[in-house]
Amino acid sequence: MSNKIWIGTNWKMTKTLKEGLAYTEELNELSKKVSSNIELFIIPSHTALIPIHELTSKSRIHIGAQNMHWEEEGAYTGEVSPRMLEEIGIDMIELGHSERRQYYNENDREINKKVHAGLSHGFTPLVCIGENLEQKNNNISKEVLAAQLKVCLKDVTKEEVTKVMVAYEPVWAIGENGIPADATYVAEAHAFLRQQLVELYGETGAKIPLLFGGSVNLENFMEYIKIEDVNGLFIGRAAWNMDSFKQILHRLDDLFA
Ligand code: PGA
Repeated sequence: MSNKIWIGTNWKMTKTLKEGLAYTEELNELSKKVSSNIELFIIPSHTALIPIHELTSKSRIHIGAQNMHWEEEGAYTGEVSPRMLEEIGIDMIELGHSERRQYYNENDREINKKVHAGLSHGFTPLVCIGENLEQKNNNISKEVLAAQLKVCLKDVTKEEVTKVMVAYEPVWAIGENGIPADATYVAEAHAFLRQQLVELYGETGAKIPLLFGGSVNLENFMEYIKIEDVNGLFIGRAAWNMDSFKQILHRLDDLFA
């Protein structure tokens, strides 16, 4: 296990502002008792970003946005620009989640533009990649992952990439209908991704945080976090419920005691 781990959640389209504030207040308190080896982050909806950012201004919880356009401004109805997010002062930007790819046809080239825009505005891009079930069944997962990494990180320099984080989220493992991945499968995928990152960035690639996500829950999180190249967990449902998130954090905290 790494000596620093990233643990966080994307709320997707679930919490209202009121619900999000109540959750964040609890997490603020909890964060005071959690080891500093655990970096915490939450990724609320756009409508909650400003108040949640304010509420966490004195805590060590990092705040991210779920999506962002790559242009500074323009006629893009319904989109949010990097300038707007920079004004709020958020830390991270989640890019390329499988739901964005699946329902809004986002592709790696667009994600790459967003990565560059995010970096130039000082955000940490959290780049999500992962094969779908068909690709897995056709035994092309590694090819898919390698291609996603290469295109999403195209022209990102060695210096810039020190700010990037990658989340491996096999699409077939995500959400209500997801099937949790075996730890051995995750270990193999992360070792492969690490090797790709080292090929692309040398020593620097060895240090890029690689998070795992997809049906992470109370039963399996410990197995995943103990995998050598897993530097954090990107949790959905099991972290939306504060009681189960608390249990996860307490048990992770024990690892650093
Ligand atoms: P899940 O979501 O933990 O609810 O499967 C993970 C994700 O979509 O990042």
